[in-house]
Amino acid sequence: MEIKNIVNPANEVMLKRSTIRKYDTSVKISREEMKNILKDAMTAPSSLNLQPWRFVVIDTTEGKEKIKPYMMFNELQWQTCSAIIAVFGDLQCFSNTEKIYSSAVEHNLLPQQKKDAMVEMITNYSASYTPERLSNAIMLDCGFVAMQIMLSAKNYGYDTNPIGGYVRDEFAKAVGMDTKRYLPVILLSIGKADEEAHDSIRFSVDEVTEFK
Ligand SMILES: Cc1cc2nc3c(=O)[nH]c(=O)nc-3n(C[C@H](O)[C@H](O)[C@H](O)COP(=O)(O)O)c2cc1C
Repeated sequence: MEIKNIVNPANEVMLKRSTIRKYDTSVKISREEMKNILKDAMTAPSSLNLQPWRFVVIDTTEGKEKIKPYMMFNELQWQTCSAIIAVFGDLQCFSNTEKIYSSAVEHNLLPQQKKDAMVEMITNYSASYTPERLSNAIMLDCGFVAMQIMLSAKNYGYDTNPIGGYVRDEFAKAVGMDTKRYLPVILLSIGKADEEAHDSIRFSVDEVTEFK
């Protein structure tokens, strides 16, 4: 059977993304452009559409200095990037249920009656969440948006590095976030590449896939 290889812009962006750790320090991403990158990325799916992600974009010299002690072995990215995007998860995301679903009604995306039923269902459902289940769900949703930020950045001509090696426990406080409410998920360095991307090895599909 002939297997079609469909090439579209999304596919091209995905195949071309690679971690970049050294950036051209003369290139600054404007805040307007950064907002566009994030806006596109926020089309990511999320559980119950609660969109629990929150972003802190550290793009000033003062801001970067404040987070330097928490960057562990990732100093090169910190030093050369245009910005570090810190992705946090909102542990109080269920408190936005009414706001999100009312907005869907205002935009004619949902009839009022269905919205009322959804809000009631979600409110009851949320009562069954243990703290562990909540943080797992939030991490998953934020993982989706983080991936989309990396693809969106690529689409705007920038490169990224997902950074899990940072002092998580102290990071939220360092950037002024409420540590009880916001869960640190991942940092993303972003900027114009100043090094060649390296290919990285992957398992074959057969090694990680079963058909049943
Ligand atoms: C959750 C996560 C945490 C990571 N943490 C770091 C990190 O702290 N420092 C780093 O240089 N790269 C980090 N990486 C990047 C990986 O090393 C990289 O994605 C992997 O080697 C595959 O290479 P590629 O991104 O070029 O495809 C991380 C990636 C992920 C998904």
